[in-house]
Amino acid sequence: MRIFHEPESLKKHLSSVKTDQKSIGFVPTMGALHEGHLSLIDAAKNTTDKVVASIYINPTQFDNQSDLDAYPRVAEQDLEMLKNRGCDIVFLPTDTIMYPKPSQLNISFGSLENTLEGKERPGHFNGVGLIVSKLFHLILPDHAFFGQKDYQQFLIIDQLCQELFFPLRLHCMPIVREANGLAMSSRNGRLSKLAFKEAGLIYDSLLRAKAALLDGIHIPMIKEEIKNFYAGQKNFDLAYFEFRNKYNLQAVDEQMEPKDMIICIAVYCENVRLIDNLIINS
Ligand code: PAF
Repeated sequence: MRIFHEPESLKKHLSSVKTDQKSIGFVPTMGALHEGHLSLIDAAKNTTDKVVASIYINPTQFDNQSDLDAYPRVAEQDLEMLKNRGCDIVFLPTDTIMYPKPSQLNISFGSLENTLEGKERPGHFNGVGLIVSKLFHLILPDHAFFGQKDYQQFLIIDQLCQELFFPLRLHCMPIVREANGLAMSSRNGRLSKLAFKEAGLIYDSLLRAKAALLDGIHIPMIKEEIKNFYAGQKNFDLAYFEFRNKYNLQAVDEQMEPKDMIICIAVYCENVRLIDNLIINS
């Protein structure tokens, strides 16, 4: 596995890969890797000739300094995991490389941004759009792989690719879950053992809401039941629980068919923000 810290040497190496007519699959990450990330590496390996991963904790997508400070930094362990999974190339840049000076660019995603995660974390998707654009320009992948857990991020990057004509194919890969149903996330390591165990209730609540929807229960009633459920959980603080149009994350109405919906949730547990979702017909 080749490791690059500088864009110039990375680009030189990748251009030799491209002249050999090899396709490039890209998996951007912020490190603290888990099976969810590794499933993206597997998907990239199954689809392309050479797999590039990046590890970079992007400061511009954090709306809160303590969240950025608390983000786990375990590069040695990450590199070992990537190597064992057969990743070919890793890009591991510094802040000075990615942001030689503070960025003045502001990428707005309109209605897709002003809801759910974007509404609760101002500037977050601008930061994601910036860093993903920079990485796509440096790596010029043929395919890029993202996890469904960050579904809004996936739609944002899809919009970015369409509007800026990035010539690549995006893949949204299924959520990988712990045995208790908790969606894998780099943040899960910040939970106590007890909270980790209890956090299986997040996925349970999504499944319960889906079953109720398919049973014909009205959405406001389902939301009320879920809200009451979380109000009774002392370790969990519900940020949102929403049924949305899965193509644009706008509010649903009673006429919309369940197959066009996604249920999205964000919960705080021990001050850790956990998100999850369930696409109704997947
Ligand atoms: O999903 C993530 O880990 C990050 O948002 C990403 C796409 C690597 C950009 O920093």
